[in-house]
Amino acid sequence: MKVDLYERVWLWVAGALIFGFLSIIVVSSVVHAIHPPSHVETVDPTTVRTETEFANPGVFKQADGSTLIVMVAAMYTFSPETMVVPAGEPVRFRITSPDVIHGFQIAGTNANATIIPGYVSEFSVVFPEEGEYLVLCNEYCGRSHHMMQATFIARRTEGATP
Ligand code: CUA
Repeated sequence: MKVDLYERVWLWVAGALIFGFLSIIVVSSVVHAIHPPSHVETVDPTTVRTETEFANPGVFKQADGSTLIVMVAAMYTFSPETMVVPAGEPVRFRITSPDVIHGFQIAGTNANATIIPGYVSEFSVVFPEEGEYLVLCNEYCGRSHHMMQATFIARRTEGATP
């Protein structure tokens, strides 16, 4: 079967484009750990601040030595606003919102989640270095959206891998 030269060229170009796009997906998921959200858990936003774990947000050491952070994102504050967290080890987050959609981005890490009322956003992140990390709401949520921020102070704990 004879395939015209131009047709062959375009077949190779199309094949190369497909390969290129697939490579971008593989590199971003393997190298940069960018994944679609996979955790679906619902919660009643009207009682979330009184009757659930989100009534007492904070940093919790788990029995296995890992760290769990429970947070509430609400107009226009994160609770808690300042937290000390371990550096160099995975920290698990559970966050929800009682009012509107907020963003949760930790500058200097790959943590970037959307906080939706009625849902619990759960993910893990490693604070790579000791120091201060700024959390920003990156989803417009109202008049004082630009004021909505929090701070993590990451410190190395004993036994953590350097
Ligand atoms: Cu919360 Cu913008």
